[in-house]
Amino acid sequence: MPLATRPLAPSVPNDLEAFWVPFTPNRAFKKAPRLIVRAKGMHYYTPEGKPIIDGSAGMWCCNAGHNRDPIVAAIQQQAAELDYPPAFQFSHPKAFELASRIAALAPGDLDHVFFCNSGSEAVDTALKVALAYHNVRGEASRARLIGRERGYHGVGFGGISVGGIVANRKMFGTMLAGVDHLPHTYNREKQAFSKGEPEWGAHLADDLDRIVALHDASTIAAVIVEPMSGSTGVLPPPKGYLERLRAICDKHGILLIFDEVITGFGRLGTAFAAERYGVMPDMITFAKGVTSGTVPMAGVILRKGIYDAFMRGPEHVIELFHGYTYSAHPLACAAGIATLDVYRDEKLFERAAALEGKWADAAMSLKGTPGVLDIRTLGLVAAIDLSSRPDAYGKRAYDSMEKAFHEHGLMFRITGDTIALSPPLIISENEIGEIFDKVGKVIRQVN
Ligand SMILES: Cc1ncc(COP(=O)(O)O)c(C=O)c1O
Repeated sequence: MPLATRPLAPSVPNDLEAFWVPFTPNRAFKKAPRLIVRAKGMHYYTPEGKPIIDGSAGMWCCNAGHNRDPIVAAIQQQAAELDYPPAFQFSHPKAFELASRIAALAPGDLDHVFFCNSGSEAVDTALKVALAYHNVRGEASRARLIGRERGYHGVGFGGISVGGIVANRKMFGTMLAGVDHLPHTYNREKQAFSKGEPEWGAHLADDLDRIVALHDASTIAAVIVEPMSGSTGVLPPPKGYLERLRAICDKHGILLIFDEVITGFGRLGTAFAAERYGVMPDMITFAKGVTSGTVPMAGVILRKGIYDAFMRGPEHVIELFHGYTYSAHPLACAAGIATLDVYRDEKLFERAAALEGKWADAAMSLKGTPGVLDIRTLGLVAAIDLSSRPDAYGKRAYDSMEKAFHEHGLMFRITGDTIALSPPLIISENEIGEIFDKVGKVIRQVN
């Protein structure tokens, strides 16, 4: 339809065909679309004006809540002031300001930031930096990358190669060569209904020693893990696991990358999971919460030694042949700075830590509900495993998501037959109760 003849402000599209909705069953979605036209605070609103309480911070993004005035104002002002300067060979002040603010939040000497636009790009950037780092130090044989089963690191070829979610990998050929995987850390028999970090499983980190024995340390560049696997159904790290992984990496000169795209910016009650666990990775990938989901932005935080290793050779020559047209886009930087102000001024990371106990108790209150096989919690995150229908894996959780949205005014995420919850960090205690009350009703309905 020509633009001029379109209705001025259509609240509902009348043709859903053209848009291929990502990571979504398109035919089912287009029969009963879940559309959102507005958001504020803890709520989304449908085209009919129905409020939907946000149990998932969008997709683990909107930690400051929705459409926060200071963030909206910062984006509007930036759009009016500077649209876009080249990201290579030129820059703008807010890029440096945001990098300094993020570096100050990160622990230890994680004090340099490389900006990207998505978690997938951040992961590919971190993997490439790991390879290049060993290269510039004269250890180019360190070319292998180690991920973990059930890991999610986005959808680039690097990310799916080190990732461990079968459906995300099996259609896409052979991916990167030279990748191996640690075992995942979930064992329902040993860990079911654990609040926080499970007691069992630290020894699974020792599998890295086996992988090193197989390939030799001189061939391994980096290990990448999510401190808490998110997208695969919320797998908190067993007590002591991350410490053990760090020690084995140190022993063999292997870089350790924490993918904190979900766990960054307060989700676990600290700025980064690295701080919660007192474990220093060599790089942290971040995205989502950095702008509270308002403008795409992501990046890698690197230890000083990694950045310094590249600062050699003639000064007019580019040190790292990598970057994106929209690295450190002004809109994203303005949004990021305003978002970090909100986190600081409203003490939202501390708030998440303070609410963790109440959140976990509310989640565990659903233990015993028919069809619930396990519940896991960590920070302001919870996952509920539902028993699968014999003939249709994933259908029960899919039905629960549909019913939650259309009938109960609740949004959450699903993966397989697991419901995942991760609300904005501004959630109140009453809203925690409301969410789990609704989740309980939905689970009973789909049983
Ligand atoms: C741990 C982790 N890494 C990477 C990504 C990919 O991020 P994006 O979808 O922004 O590419 C995600 C997305 O959920 C994630 O959870």
